[in-house]
Amino acid sequence: MASSNVQFVARPGGQLSGTLRVPGDKSISHRSIMLGSLAEGVTRVSGFLEGEDSLATLRAFRDMGVQIDGPLDGNVTIHGVGMHGLKTPSAPLDLGNSGTSMRLMCGLLAGQGMDVTLVGDASLSRRPMKRVTEPLARMGAKIDSAEGGTAPLQISAVNALNGLHYDMPVASAQVKSCLLLAGMYAQGETCVTEPAPTRDHTERMLQGFGYAVQRQGSQACLTGGGKLQACDIDVPADISSAAFFLVGASIAEGSDLLLEHVGMNPTRDGVINILRLMGADIEVLNARVVGGEPVADLRVRSAPLKGIRIPQDQVPLAIDEFPVLFIAAACAQGETVLTGAEELRVKESDRIQVMADGLAVLGVDARPTPDGIVIQGGGRIGGGRVDSHGDHRIAMAFTMAALRASGDILIDDCANVNTSFPRFVDLASAAGCRVALQDA
Ligand code: S3P
Repeated sequence: MASSNVQFVARPGGQLSGTLRVPGDKSISHRSIMLGSLAEGVTRVSGFLEGEDSLATLRAFRDMGVQIDGPLDGNVTIHGVGMHGLKTPSAPLDLGNSGTSMRLMCGLLAGQGMDVTLVGDASLSRRPMKRVTEPLARMGAKIDSAEGGTAPLQISAVNALNGLHYDMPVASAQVKSCLLLAGMYAQGETCVTEPAPTRDHTERMLQGFGYAVQRQGSQACLTGGGKLQACDIDVPADISSAAFFLVGASIAEGSDLLLEHVGMNPTRDGVINILRLMGADIEVLNARVVGGEPVADLRVRSAPLKGIRIPQDQVPLAIDEFPVLFIAAACAQGETVLTGAEELRVKESDRIQVMADGLAVLGVDARPTPDGIVIQGGGRIGGGRVDSHGDHRIAMAFTMAALRASGDILIDDCANVNTSFPRFVDLASAAGCRVALQDA
């Protein structure tokens, strides 16, 4: 735990109303820095997420000699150095809490012909990295890791990478993206096949930067040796951040909230599909396409929710939203069953166990299983002290639980909310949550 314990105190009750634009999409913000840095020309980004995770990526590329102006009010200007213009950094690149930075950069840097070390915080240093280092080694990369295949990752210069045809054992956009980014530096073709659809921002953005990607069914392929051309990027609001308010407004009686400019990529909209199956009242307004990504405004009004069996095909499409979906399940009438979600155990925390422990503190019957959870909803939600284990999404999920709780919820270890959602407490308060920050 960090030496200073940032706590949230969430008082019971309240309802959500008004109009809100949550911060920019984290996945797209990371990729805008990575691709903009390697492009020829100047890339201008608006709506950039000024959270610790995407800032870690930004700093890492600055440390490799890229001039990046901003962020200022979400605007970032990247002076691209071209595919081979990165410079060897003078120290290890510290990627903080960010799994996306580490896994994508591992691929992007493997074929650069430079020695570089990637490090992260305690949580990131526990997360599995073999899922990227093993296929990269098959491409000819040389990457040393700590025992167990975890960070720090020491990447050594190699002369060349070879293209790879890879069937991913897990549905992971980070692994897919890592290999496609490495494939730009490999001889011949690199193809990645996924067992289930995962977020496709890398494929879309590569194409936006003028790099051909062939997509057929579950496979994405590209050929090494191409170039990226700078472009402008308008980052939509992050549906993963909007998710807290979709659930909050659904469970807090009398709520009526408008979430603006939310990214609605079909590989990310599982949270809306799942909430609708539970009976949520979510209206999609003003659907449009912005810079190659679907965007819409979402109006959500409170509605009685019912427990469901969550369809397994929705799991990768809602992979980051389960902590707050478990809060929805706790407020829904009847049983909610999640299966096929073992990946949740290797996120920023073990999200199945940490959520089950927190729900138990609040008096909710939540039984963890190896690959999911069974939650009996509709009972009383009490107050109490829960530990987020430094996981941003757990902290924000329990903040929403307070809307239906009978007592205060004190949430420990909340500093990492800044990784994905700076000013969360201000925005949540403005919308109607009774939450405050305290440094214990
Ligand atoms: C991300 C992919 C997902 C997600 C993470 C961001 C990305 O991870 O959980 O927050 O930007 O590619 P996996 O692909 O490992 O499931």
